[in-house]
Parts: sequence; structure tokens; C-alpha cells
Amino acid sequence: MFYGADYYPEHWPRERWERDAELMAKAGINVVRLAEFAWAKMEPEPGRYTFDWLDEALDVLAQQDIQAVMCTPTATPPAWLCQQYPEILAVERDGQRVAFGMRRQYCPTSARYRELSRQITAALAERYADHPRIVAWQLDNEFGGHHPRCYCPECADAFHTWLQERYGSLDAVNDAWGTAFWSHIYTAWDQIPLPTDAVGTSNPGLELDFYRFTSDQWGSYAQEQIDVLRAHGVTSITTNLMGFGFAEINYFDLAARLDFTTWDNYPIGIQDDPASIAAAHGLMRGLRDEPFWIMEEQAGPSGWQVMSPAPKPGQLRLWAYQAMAHGANAIVYFRWRTCRAGVEEWWHGILDHHGRPGRRYDEIARMGAEVRRLQDGLQDAMPPKAAAIILSYDDRWALRLQPNAYGLSYNELWLTYYRALHKLGVPLDVVPPDADLSRYALVVAPTLHVVSDVYAESLSTHVQQGGHLVLGARSGVKDMMNRVVNQPLPGLLADLCGVEVAEYDALGSKASVRVAFAQEAEYIGDHAVGHTWADILKPRGARTLATYTGTFYEGEPAITTHHVGTGTATYVGVLPDQDLADALARWATEQAGIVPLLQDKPAGVEVAARDKAGQRFLFLLNHTGESQSVPIAGSYRDLLADVVIRGSVPLAPYDVAILKTGLGA
Ligand code: GLA
Ligand code: ZN
Repeated sequence: MFYGADYYPEHWPRERWERDAELMAKAGINVVRLAEFAWAKMEPEPGRYTFDWLDEALDVLAQQDIQAVMCTPTATPPAWLCQQYPEILAVERDGQRVAFGMRRQYCPTSARYRELSRQITAALAERYADHPRIVAWQLDNEFGGHHPRCYCPECADAFHTWLQERYGSLDAVNDAWGTAFWSHIYTAWDQIPLPTDAVGTSNPGLELDFYRFTSDQWGSYAQEQIDVLRAHGVTSITTNLMGFGFAEINYFDLAARLDFTTWDNYPIGIQDDPASIAAAHGLMRGLRDEPFWIMEEQAGPSGWQVMSPAPKPGQLRLWAYQAMAHGANAIVYFRWRTCRAGVEEWWHGILDHHGRPGRRYDEIARMGAEVRRLQDGLQDAMPPKAAAIILSYDDRWALRLQPNAYGLSYNELWLTYYRALHKLGVPLDVVPPDADLSRYALVVAPTLHVVSDVYAESLSTHVQQGGHLVLGARSGVKDMMNRVVNQPLPGLLADLCGVEVAEYDALGSKASVRVAFAQEAEYIGDHAVGHTWADILKPRGARTLATYTGTFYEGEPAITTHHVGTGTATYVGVLPDQDLADALARWATEQAGIVPLLQDKPAGVEVAARDKAGQRFLFLLNHTGESQSVPIAGSYRDLLADVVIRGSVPLAPYDVAILKTGLGA
């Protein structure tokens, strides 16, 4: 198992490197990521490559048996390059060209930049493709960060070509976007505008297509580097993604181009909601339905101009184990040593500015020793399949462009359902809308807003084959062109749900509406509050689970469930508050026959499992500052304490236990 740090030897005097490598080895570190921002050091002037320092760094690390992830340095085009080729600089939505001075300032469409990017990639690959110490390659750094979309003239041309490929004819585009509205009928491709500030509010179909186009541009830009590396025989390629919060690129598409997924995990800021961190791990694992790496793991207080509070003793180790619990095969901390200069002076590494080991180093070294003992068993183990939650990038984009109601946030809605399932301690996968759902007893779509025939078909097959489905409000509203469907809502999903939306009420920002469970559904919960949106439902075969109270649609159905064969499709017409989501999740998992990983789990303790070869690794993660005792049935081997344990597992504040057990015959 790889355990590592992001290392910037180019920031430090040459005399220091041996000491760094020694300290790393002592902490159990066996891999570093190198050079993702070092273009100016690799090519100080056009065409003159200087790799000797990198060779030397690899040699120094090798003396301590430390391997490396090599990076293409294209996230930081040097000053000389930007001066010589200003056309590679991205243009913002307001028409401003981005200036040199930070990073990621380039346009991914720029033919010139693509050429320069292939060149530096080829030069690196020539030098290092066969290097025995290099275990993987990272492309660029955090694609889409800082300037996710570019509005330059080259992007306009490329958008037109992309549209031609997608639609074939202008007639098809005009039809898809409904351009008869406001006389937008296009008679030549180059009339089609980019959705800039100068336009104002753009056609929703055009704007969603522009999001898809820019997401594809990052993919094809990445692909050019992949092709160069492949031509040199490289077989282990990744790039560092940004988890759940970053929604500018369709990560399912991007990850499909890679050999494995990695991502950058910074829990500070979301540490009070471990479920949100888990959701990010779940999504990253779900991109390829495979274990992943953490390429940047929080190693200390973070911040650029201002610092976050310090991670409490145990938290760095806890967050790293949480990543492992959800499928991480490797943990690489960002960064080895806190830098003394540059924008990120306050983004702390394992070592402080002065370079001497302290509390954080000790904690990470402790885990390094543990990881060494754990490694073989855990490597490649995957969580069992039970429940899945659908995440759609089209929906994230469509609902960002048109939130439908004031305060309606896809992320918040999605996380409310995720949290509810997470709290129960059931195995949970994050899947795209076109995933194979047959592997799951329960599928939850907090909303499925933009719906194709294929998605509708897949959900319907899932339920017909005995699966359970919970579908949230604003589902089935749009077709793939981001046009409103031509039938009663939830559109293509109405028959499956046995329900129609008779009318709706966009309540707006957190304005709440009370619903009451019907007498025969009272066991689901007694408290029921929705907010922001209310669908007034008309059952067409579905059974009403809850009705509205205290509003002009008092008594009308708010939540319904439809039996189809042995499966059910439940439609939730409101955005549930957390308690309502919790109640629905409890009911739905029970109905689907999903057994929680632990029967009796204290709040604040997270449970997750990874299975491999008939063995289960059960992770207990104490996210609270208090000691906890977790009741368990049967006996387990506690891998970290290295004892057999029964009855209950004691957990100190922010502590972790990994229990190993056979899965039975
Ligand atoms: C990101 C980047 C890193 C660094 C950290 C901290 O995740 O990939 O280079 O900038 O954030 O800001
Ligand atoms: Zn551009």
C-alpha cells in the first residue's frame, strides 16, 4: 500500500533533500508525488530542458526506497510561455483575458497550448517513462480549478464544431433549443453565441450544452497527454480530482479516460459533517467503481491568506483512515513541508516551515507504521453492494442554471439524502444515472431532473425486477436538451411512480411545509417537514404515504409509493428536511431488506466496510471528541490494536478501529 507525501524538492536547498528522504522513510512514507508545478524548472527557456535536478531528487529518494508519481507540469505554464503566446490565456465569462500571476491560467482548447502541453509531456515521458522508481503519472493538477470555462474565440469555434458533431444540422440545434423563442433561429453555425455576460441570460439548452462542451474539452485536452504517455509505454495514469464539491467537469467521463482515480481530500471546513466527506469518497470510488488514491490528504491547518484552526490530535489519522474505509488504496499527504514563500504559505504540510518533526509528523508516522501491517489484506478490497444514490452532472448543471425555486440547491438536496443513508451505516455507492442498477436492492435519486429514455428504462427495469426506488421532487422535468417535457410530471417516470404532479408550489428558500403520514404509514415517522418545493400529487395507481397539512393543498398527497411486481417506486414531492429524509431512508432500507453494518452504532461514530476474498474489514471511525464504546456481536480481530475483541469496541476521541472478520460460507 502506498503511503506518501507531495514533495517539492525544487523549493528547498539541495543540502536538505537527504534529510527529507530520511524523515519520510522514518514515517513510513514510500511514495512522493513530484513536479506538478515545476515547468519553469524543467524548461527554463523554450526548448531547453533541465531534468538533472529531478533525476537527482529521484536518486536521493531511491536511497530510502521511496518511489514517485511523476506529473506533467501543465497546470502552471511559465511566465516566458505566457508572454510569448498570450493567446493561450483563458477568457472569463465577462470577456476579460486571464493574466499571468497565479496558476491554471490557460485555455484547454487553445491549439497552441495543446501543442506545448504535448511537447513538455513528451520530453518528460522520454526521460522518465521507463524510470524504475516511477509508479504512476499524474496529468496536470486539478483540471477545471480556478477557470473552469473559457470564452475565448477558439472555444467559440470549437463549440460550433462540437455542436455540429452532436446535432448534425442547424435545424436539429434550432429544434433542440426551441430557438423560435425570441427569434434565436440560427442560420449559420458561427451565429451561435457563447453564454457570456454580454449575452445576459442564455437559452437553457445552449447553456447546458456549453457546460457539456467545456467538460468535454478538459477530457480531450487530458486525452492528448494520455496519448503521449501511452506512446511511451506508460500504463498507470491518473489526475487529481476534487471530490463532490467541485461540479464543473463530468468526472464520470473524465475518470473513464484514466487508469485509476485519485482525488484531493481536505476535510477542514466540512469536518463537522463526516457524511459530506464520506460522500466525496463515495463519488470518487463510484467514478470507476474501483478503489482510488488520495493524492492530497490534509496534513495540517490550511488556508491561503488566513489559516483554518489546527486539526485536533488524532484527526489527521482519522480522516486518512476514513478515506481508506471508503476505498482508498493509497494516502498521499499534501504537502511534505510547509512552504516559506508563495501563495500557499499558510497551507500546512506534515512539517512546519522550519522543517523539524512535530506533533503532525508523529501522528502521520504512527499511522505509517500501522499501514505497513495492514497493507496486503486491505489492498483492493471493495465495499459490499446494497444501496446506491444517483448523482447526475447534467442535473447539477441544469439546476445551477435554473434552480427552479429560490434556494433550491442540488448539492444540499443530494447531501440530505446521502446523510440519511450514511447515518444508518448501510453500504452505499454513488452511481451515475446510466449505471447498472441490478446490483442494488435500493436506489435513491434525490432528484433526477434531466431524464433520457435510457435512464427511465433503467429505473423501471430496476423496480420491475424487485428493486426499490426513492425518487425526489423535480424529477422527470427536463429532456436531454434541457427542454421541459411534453407530458405530466414526473414525465417519463410518471408511469413507474404511478403518480402525476397535478400542481406545484415553489415555496422558496427553506420555506417549510408540513406533511403528515397517513395512518397506515405512521410507522415511517411522526415528524414530517418539507421545504423549498412542494409537488401536489395525484396518485394513478400509487398509494399515498403522506399528505400536506396547513396549506391551501391541505389533504393532497405529498409522498406516494407504487408497487410494481415485488419492487416499489416512492415519490417524495417535497425537499425533505433532515429528519424526514432520515425517516424515509430508514423505512426504505428496511423495505429493501438491507441490513446495517452494525445494529447499534453511537451517533458520531461512522461505520464502513470493505470486503475481499471472503474477509470483511469493518472500520469504526470516531468523529467526536469524546470516548465511545461501540457494541458488536460476535468476535473480531482488531487489526490496529492486534487483539481479538468481543462485546464492544472502545474508541478514544478521534480514534479508529479496523475489525476483521470472515464473511461466512
Ligand atoms: C489543491 C491543489 C494544491 C494546493 C491545495 C491547497 O488541492 O491541488 O496544489 O493548491 O489545493 O490550496
Ligand atoms: Zn478558450
